[in-house]
Amino acid sequence: MATGSLTLSVPYLVEQKYAEYTAEQHAVWSELVRRRMPQLEQHACREYLDGYEVIGLQNDRLPNLYSISNRLRPRTGWSTTPVSGFMPGDAFFEMLADRQFPTTTWLRDRNSLEYTPEPDIFHDVFGHVPMHAHAVFADFLQHYGKVCAGVKDEEIREKLGRLFWYTVEFGVIRQNGKLKVYGSGVISSHGECTNVINGGCAIHDFDLDEVLSTTVKVDEMHKLLFAIESFDQIYEAMRAAEIKLLGSAQ
Ligand SMILES: [Fe+2]
Repeated sequence: MATGSLTLSVPYLVEQKYAEYTAEQHAVWSELVRRRMPQLEQHACREYLDGYEVIGLQNDRLPNLYSISNRLRPRTGWSTTPVSGFMPGDAFFEMLADRQFPTTTWLRDRNSLEYTPEPDIFHDVFGHVPMHAHAVFADFLQHYGKVCAGVKDEEIREKLGRLFWYTVEFGVIRQNGKLKVYGSGVISSHGECTNVINGGCAIHDFDLDEVLSTTVKVDEMHKLLFAIESFDQIYEAMRAAEIKLLGSAQ
């Protein structure tokens, strides 16, 4: 396992024991993809759908993280690195800053297809990783990790956490006059995505001040999300957030 320049996150790095996944687990993956794809083909942003092809996800088999990294690395320099589970902020940000996405290797079981309290490989890979094939998004994510790694003030970290939440986790974008989803939480959850599509959630134009002051609630369906117009906008928002919260941009 390559650890590169990682230090804080080393204790969390594991190997993905791909051969140990059971036929039932591959079948659950396949079922999860079957439940999400029809809606995403219509409502996911085109960068997500392109990325899905680029990283070579197969609908009927769990993803091999090593193969994904081999496809992503030449394109955006990102890799999809297996970790043991939840990581403290410092270790998580260190990995993002090194263009390594911490990815869990366990998969939910058949009884919790719609929701897991902690991210699993479906949320992490199906939800997040296709966007890492997009150059601007990929740069944004690395920059986010680099900036957050240097922040110790809890209040500032919480505000930056909101920027992450309302983009990487629950972001939506307007494309050709239509609302499309790109955040992993909306991509991977049928309930959240349906809520957005059916107008169960207010959509405001992305405004940095509003995003930074909108509290994250993890235990209920979203009532407000923020639509960007292009991925350049989140990169620019990150620079503006640095100036606003830290006094200067890196
Ligand atoms: Fe996530």
